[in-house]
Amino acid sequence: MDEIKSVEEFNRNIKRVLITEDEIKAAIKEAGKKISDSYDGKPILLVSILNGAFIFMADLCREITVPCEIAFMCAKSYYKGTDSSGIVNITMDLEQDISGYHVIIVEDIIDTGRTLNDIVNLLKARNPLSLKVVTLLDKPSRRLVDFEPDMSLFVIEDHFVIGYGLDCGEYYRNLPYIAEFNQ
Ligand code: IMP
Ligand code: MG
Repeated sequence: MDEIKSVEEFNRNIKRVLITEDEIKAAIKEAGKKISDSYDGKPILLVSILNGAFIFMADLCREITVPCEIAFMCAKSYYKGTDSSGIVNITMDLEQDISGYHVIIVEDIIDTGRTLNDIVNLLKARNPLSLKVVTLLDKPSRRLVDFEPDMSLFVIEDHFVIGYGLDCGEYYRNLPYIAEFNQ
């Protein structure tokens, strides 16, 4: 995407709001309660995948009412053609040994499923006590690998979405809601 040169251009690309701030807030509150109830007393490590999940992580962790630690990973996946056995390139890895933790991966969106499938396999090999995936958004109609999150807050149609951490060409992460991008 080219550089956005004006506020008018920025706003023109926001087609319509799909999920409002209040709807996101309510869904995260509920997810935080579920996590707090089911992991009470366990050593929890929330692992957020940068950059997209940074806002979701910040809001979700504040709705968790039991002790938990947080950590960040940055991953890029490269695939050749339709080959789904891709290589995930970790550009920033976890610092801690996760073998003593119940790990919860906190992701912004699952599209083809390839990135998270690779990350889950990578982290499973490090023997966490358990490993689950919570995603803010899920686009199941786009799936190319057999991957299901343990919790998804919103299932959406095949739209390219922006806002609340999600970008188009690195813009729009700062919108407080989820919108459809005007392609
Ligand atoms: P996949 O599940 O491996 O295809 O990739 C998921 C990643 O692609 C997400 O973590 C996002 O960074 C990006 N992505 C997929 N769909 C969208 C979208 O609609 N808007 C913004 N980013 C997206
Ligand atoms: Mg992402």
